[in-house]
Amino acid sequence: MLNKLVVGNQKMNLTANQTRKFLNSFVPLVDLVNCDVGICVPYTNINVCKKALKESKILYGAQNVSEFEKGAYTGEVNAQMLADVGCQLVIVGHSERRKMFSEQNSQINNKIKQNLKYNLTSILCIGESKRDRTAGQTDKVLCKQIDECLSGLYENELEKIVIAYEPVWAIGTGQTATAKQIEEAISIIKNEISRIYSKSIIDKVRILYGGSVKPENVREFVKIKNLDGFLVGGVSLDASAFSELIHLFVDGKGKK
Ligand code: PGA
Repeated sequence: MLNKLVVGNQKMNLTANQTRKFLNSFVPLVDLVNCDVGICVPYTNINVCKKALKESKILYGAQNVSEFEKGAYTGEVNAQMLADVGCQLVIVGHSERRKMFSEQNSQINNKIKQNLKYNLTSILCIGESKRDRTAGQTDKVLCKQIDECLSGLYENELEKIVIAYEPVWAIGTGQTATAKQIEEAISIIKNEISRIYSKSIIDKVRILYGGSVKPENVREFVKIKNLDGFLVGGVSLDASAFSELIHLFVDGKGKK
């Protein structure tokens, strides 16, 4: 059985100094917790993580990566550079990138392939919009995202993929998917992966939920079948609330 995993997506909020302060408070609160914990920070803050997390098992990583290998791509940061500063995780295909930067599944697929070359774990975000859901298209949208983003990957490479189911309408809105909706999405994802690959791989791919998860609602999700953890946005900026969420998820108790 794979460990549970909770990852913070801190987005474009903290400066390097603020990340240092965050980690000073956060690390002692979660260092002994019985689950994998990670944070994904802006590129400029990765070295702070490298230093602060040297003695810790907390994972760290980036929120994006270039789809290209190397060369004249002004402003881009490649997978080799991320691996070089010790990243283990890279979020790819977040809905904010799909929406605001018109990121396509084919580009996300290239990013995943770059990550694989450097042994980085991709946290692949997929999810339907409100309109998709209302139109009864959730199933179709999730399967298309999986097919196109994982295109050309070998089964043994899936061990370096984590899938984050993040319904677009639940991100940063305070509105969460219901346990039933999440359970349905997980089963769509698992069926699609076993259709493309095999049934045996499915337990090696962790599936997270993301979208307005907080200490107040995390208990509702604990019993969801096959849910391996969370991708947490807003709450991951607050060391105390984020650690509380993690402890509530793992051992049902709030404060350490
Ligand atoms: P949220 O963000 O927890 O603030 O809704 C989740 C995410 O964007 O990954």
